[in-house]
Amino acid sequence: MKLQIKVPLLIAAVLLIMGVVAGGALLYSQRRHAIDQFQETARTVNGVIKGSLEHDMLTGDRANLQQALEAIGRNQFIDKASVLLPSGAIVASSELKEIGKTSSIDQLPAVLNNKVTHSGFETLEGQNVFHEVSPILNEPSCQTCHAPEQNVLGAIEVTLDTSSLSRQMQ
Ligand code: HEC
Repeated sequence: MKLQIKVPLLIAAVLLIMGVVAGGALLYSQRRHAIDQFQETARTVNGVIKGSLEHDMLTGDRANLQQALEAIGRNQFIDKASVLLPSGAIVASSELKEIGKTSSIDQLPAVLNNKVTHSGFETLEGQNVFHEVSPILNEPSCQTCHAPEQNVLGAIEVTLDTSSLSRQMQ
């Protein structure tokens, strides 16, 4: 093969490889970034709910928690936000029809027993979501009313809609 052909071919091959590698790296970093954002959003929503719960408990204004959840649920990226008792009973939720039902979250026992937050991408009821379940701990400030023997008073469940991420990754 002539050198005049070889050199452009070599350059084309190198450019192609660089393009593939760069494209892959970009997709990977975009995906990583998106995952971080979901995690961050879920954590923030969780913190807002916890803050509202603590405030409402201490002021005795328990209706406010339900209002806060409904306001949170109106955000287009938030599928659902609920507060559960350790039994799984849903006491407050952005989805009114869920209140009074018992949640069937598989991770609830582990969250309550180990006092750790569960989070990850899941398919719930056929929908792709980012799901976070975190324990509500019985802090010293709660123990004026709640028995100190009870370590965990419930859990907060936040479900984020990940359809925008799925579209981005296609
Ligand atoms: C002034 C008293 C008081 C304080 C302080 C208090 N709670 Fe409560 N809490 C209650 C009462 C009353 C209930 C309702 C119990 C029932 O219905 O069986 C309740 C219920 C709850 C529930 C179940 C959800 C519900 O709406 O029934 C959670 C979760 C909870 N409290 C968390 C907390 C946390 C976390 C703290 C501390 C930051 C706290 N509470 C402090 C009085 C209090």
